[in-house]
Amino acid sequence: MNWTYVLDDAALMEGQMTAVYPLGVNVVLARVSGVIYAISGKCVHMACPLFTGKLESYTITCPCHDWQFDIRTGKFLDASELLLKIYPTQSETGKIFVNLNDLV
Ligand code: FES
Repeated sequence: MNWTYVLDDAALMEGQMTAVYPLGVNVVLARVSGVIYAISGKCVHMACPLFTGKLESYTITCPCHDWQFDIRTGKFLDASELLLKIYPTQSETGKIFVNLNDLV
C-alpha cells in the first residue's frame, strides 16, 4: 500500500470537506460521523471542483449544476453507474493519509 500524507487530522472538522492534492491528484477529503472519506475532487459531469460545493450528511452537491454524490460510494444519486473514484484513508499520529493505488 502506498499511503500519501495529505493533511493534519485536526484540520478536518466533523461535517467539513476540503481539497487536497496527493501526488498532484485532485481529491476531496470529508469527515462525517467521525469517518474520513476521500473522493475524486472533479465532478464527472463537467469537472467542476467539488470541494466548493455543499456537504450535507453523506452527500456532496456539485456547485455547478447541483449533481449529488454519496461520499461513501462515489455514486451519482440519480444514476449510480456514474461514479467518482473513492480512495482508502487512514489517520495515524494526527496525520491523514490517502492511498491512490487501491480503490475501495
Ligand atoms: S459539473 Fe458538476 S454537476 Fe455539472
